[in-house]
Amino acid sequence: MKRIFSGVQPTGNLHLGNYLGAIRNWVKLQQEGTECIYGIMNLHAITVPIAPEALKKAIYEVAAALIACGIDPKKSIIFQQSSVAAHSELAWILSCHTPLGWLNRMTQFKEKSGKHKENALLGLYGYPVLMAADVLGYKATHVPVGEDQKQHIELMRDIAGAFNRAYSSDYFPLPEPLILGTGTRVMSLRDGTKKMSKSDESDYSRINLTDDAEAIDLKFRKAKSDTMEGLSYEPETRPEAANLINIFAALANTTPEAVVKEYGGRNFSDFKKALSALAIEQLSPITSLMRELMKDVSYIDAVLKEGAEKANKLAAKYLKEIQEIVGFVTPE
Ligand code: TYM
Repeated sequence: MKRIFSGVQPTGNLHLGNYLGAIRNWVKLQQEGTECIYGIMNLHAITVPIAPEALKKAIYEVAAALIACGIDPKKSIIFQQSSVAAHSELAWILSCHTPLGWLNRMTQFKEKSGKHKENALLGLYGYPVLMAADVLGYKATHVPVGEDQKQHIELMRDIAGAFNRAYSSDYFPLPEPLILGTGTRVMSLRDGTKKMSKSDESDYSRINLTDDAEAIDLKFRKAKSDTMEGLSYEPETRPEAANLINIFAALANTTPEAVVKEYGGRNFSDFKKALSALAIEQLSPITSLMRELMKDVSYIDAVLKEGAEKANKLAAKYLKEIQEIVGFVTPE
């Protein structure tokens, strides 16, 4: 049986990278009729300092964004991670099957922990184990994500394998990453070699899902380009141009080659105008629906409550089975 699980952290604004690399594909998968579970991963969000008010706002904003992008709560489960206790409980069990050597290889920890590893938090270090619990706790088979999450999915496969071997079982399926389309690694608009990210200091580096048409237009106009004439797709030597071409291709559901064919002879500023018009056309219905949903969060609350109930039902059943495999008893 195919089951999809994916999630997004409620930390700051969702951006075009989240949309093209992940959420847009989640909508497509839902339409294929597969069982889909999408989480607002707030336990992950507290692995770096975040103010309670900011976290709360971000949780509602992510929920609003998922609904506005087309995730239908009647078809898919949308829930807040902390509402399902099994995530934390399974993370502990899995952490007892994860060698430190595997965690030491994780590039995200290396990047986020900075120079002073001694001060880095245990939660940040254990982050990939919690992520494994998120997916394995539903026995999910496929995980649609952007390219930056690939290493975490490889690790969760290793952890699933270690668990299965330890108990001579084939309990956990090994989840497959689904890295789909041309927007799987959207880069910063200020630096074509850096990933577009919620945590980048410069708001000009990303298109937020909350940006209005004017902001989108301004950001694309100011996006870094190069001084070479015309448009060509050369990711190694022209990373900024390649990024804008990739974004265009992803939004237009076409290939970078087709974009270059159409705009190759034109200058950057014409191309940027066309790109911003395309982005505005696709993003503004999402932005306005998000705004509507945020005006009264009672609908979002209802969606999250129902989602948590459905997710809990599945996860609690599997957690009990896992506890039995491990040798815990369930006093009747
Ligand atoms: P997060 O919140 O950083 O990002 C959510 C999704 O957006 C994708 N993404 C991008 N795709 C293309 N270009 C970009 N610049 C870009 N930036 C982000 C991410 O790949 C991701 O798919 N650890 C996860 C959240 C998580 C999770 C999970 C995901 C927690 N548990 C279980 C899948 C399964 C994260 O921080 O995503």
